Amino acid sequence: MIIRSASFVISNTEVNKCPHPDMPEYAFIGRSNVGKSSLINMLTNHKKLAKTSGKPGKTQLINHFLINEAWYLVDLPGYGYAKTSKSNRKKWSAFIDEYLLTRKNLMNTFILLDSRLAPQKIDLDFMMWCAENQIPFSMIFTKTDKLSKVATQKNIAAYKREMLKYWEEMPTYFITSSVEGTGRDQVLKYIDEVNPL
Ligand code: GTP
Ligand code: MG
Repeated sequence: MIIRSASFVISNTEVNKCPHPDMPEYAFIGRSNVGKSSLINMLTNHKKLAKTSGKPGKTQLINHFLINEAWYLVDLPGYGYAKTSKSNRKKWSAFIDEYLLTRKNLMNTFILLDSRLAPQKIDLDFMMWCAENQIPFSMIFTKTDKLSKVATQKNIAAYKREMLKYWEEMPTYFITSSVEGTGRDQVLKYIDEVNPL
C-alpha cells in the first residue's frame, strides 16, 4: 500500500467523540514505551505525526489519524505504566476498554510487544482479554534493531510456546523496527488485506 496522505484528526478520551465510524480503523496498543507512536510514524512516513518520547506515558488520549482519506490509524495510550496516579490509570483503562469493545469500525488491533523481553504477564493477560471479547488482534514485535536476528527469533519462539498453551495457533505476528523500517511493507499489506472496502 502506498501512503499518499496522513493527517491528525482528533484526540480525546471519549469514544462517542471519536470520528464517525464510517471508515475502517486499525489501532495500536501495548505497554507504555513499547514504540506505538514511533511505529505509526514509520508506517506513515511522517516523522512527527504521532508524538513519541523516551519517557513512558507520553500518549494519554485516543488519537485518530486519517490515512489516504480512506481509513483511520489510532494511537492509544500504553498500559502498565506504574508512575501515573492510580485513579488516572483506571480512567485510561476504562476508556481504552470501552473503545476496544464498542468501536464498530475497528478492523484489527495491533498489540505491540518489546522483542527484547521474555513473554510478559500483562501482555498475555491483555491478549487473553481481547480473545475473550472477540476483539481481533495481531502481534507486533518492536525494536528489533536492538537485537541480533538470532536473539529476536529466540524471544519470539518463547512467545510462541507461551501462546500455544492457550491458542491453537500463533496469531499473526510482525517483526518491526521503527528505526530501520523493518516490517513496514508487511504491516501495510496486512492492513490492505483486512480492509473490507
Ligand atoms: P507511550 O505513548 O508512552 O505509551 O509510548 P509509545 O509506545 O508510543 O512509545 P514511543 O513510540 O513514544 O517510543 C518510546 C521510545 O522508544 C522512544 O525513545 C523511541 O525513540 C524508542 N523506540 C521506538 N521504536 C523504536 C525502534 O524500533 N527501535 C529503537 N531503537 N527505538 C525505538
Ligand atoms: Mg505513544
